[in-house]
Amino acid sequence: MPPTLTFGRPDDFHVHFRQGEVAGHFARDAQDAGFARVLVMPNTLPPIDSAPALTEYRRQIEAAAPGLRALMTFKIRPGLDRQTLADLRSAGAVAGKLYPEGVTTHSEDGVRRLEDAWPVFAAMEDLDLVLCLHGEHPDAFSLDREAAFLGGLSSLRAAFPRLRMVLEHVSTAAGVDAVLSSGPLTAATLTAHHLLFTLDDMVGGKLDPHLFCKPLLKRPEDRTRLVEAALSGNPQFFFGSDSAPHSREHKEAALCSAGCYTMPVSLGLLLELFESRGALDRLEAFVSRFGAQFYGLEPNPGTLTFEKLPWKVPSLVHGVVPLKAGTTLSWSLKSLQGA
Ligand code: DOR
Ligand code: ZN
Repeated sequence: MPPTLTFGRPDDFHVHFRQGEVAGHFARDAQDAGFARVLVMPNTLPPIDSAPALTEYRRQIEAAAPGLRALMTFKIRPGLDRQTLADLRSAGAVAGKLYPEGVTTHSEDGVRRLEDAWPVFAAMEDLDLVLCLHGEHPDAFSLDREAAFLGGLSSLRAAFPRLRMVLEHVSTAAGVDAVLSSGPLTAATLTAHHLLFTLDDMVGGKLDPHLFCKPLLKRPEDRTRLVEAALSGNPQFFFGSDSAPHSREHKEAALCSAGCYTMPVSLGLLLELFESRGALDRLEAFVSRFGAQFYGLEPNPGTLTFEKLPWKVPSLVHGVVPLKAGTTLSWSLKSLQGA
């Protein structure tokens, strides 16, 4: 019998499902991958920034994937007033997402200066809504954008001491240190791709557009710190895939879109990583407990079992090339219990 690993049903605290018919496909992929809950990002066109839009988007997702619970976010606009924020919360929003202007997919309408959204952050603190941060400064050089944002993170921490904040898809050692020094109401999500790859994997030989994402993959020493954070057992660091599908045509193109479609492979890749570090016993907390704890949620009922059998990653999923397409991973999903 091949070895197996069973752990509590996981959460993915950062996903993109897009919109229209494909949103249902991508939501089902999350359910099929074994996730019980997902935090759904709001950078659709138009964005999710009102209670009716949020309610309708959740309805579409949960209709397509009835076994999946969609935790919803809204896009922060400087003009969002307290009533709209209260309505979003009543509609079930758990977090608002800050996109600085122009840093990633569909962020042209993002926030130019953090101060412009100060009243929104104040209201979110009062309403106990989590602030999810795309932590990149738009004016800095691409590789320095996260580091350039960290001053903003500490200003936010000082101005809003009760606001829970998440530095999404942390990609640098400096980002890890900033989270560590900000105390327990600041957390970070870590993606599988930032844990596994560096910039050289994308551009060191031939260009691999399927590794092009924002924030960019970084230096080996950054990746080392990210892996240490993921393995540390510190509940400030938990899993959020930033699974971000773009069609093959949009990736294998001039003006390639940023985003890695990792949903089908992220748990398998994390299993391989944690196993290679002799830390399989720490995987469950990272994917199934710390995020829920930060968001004030109970752990999911039920378990997921993987077995050590080769699994070939499909070359195309709904017109999207997933990360590690066509390669073989060493663990495969065996069963899902008690969901
Ligand atoms: O690579 C990325 N893709 N990073 C993001 O922040 C957004 C995402 C997307 O929506 O495609
Ligand atoms: Zn994202």
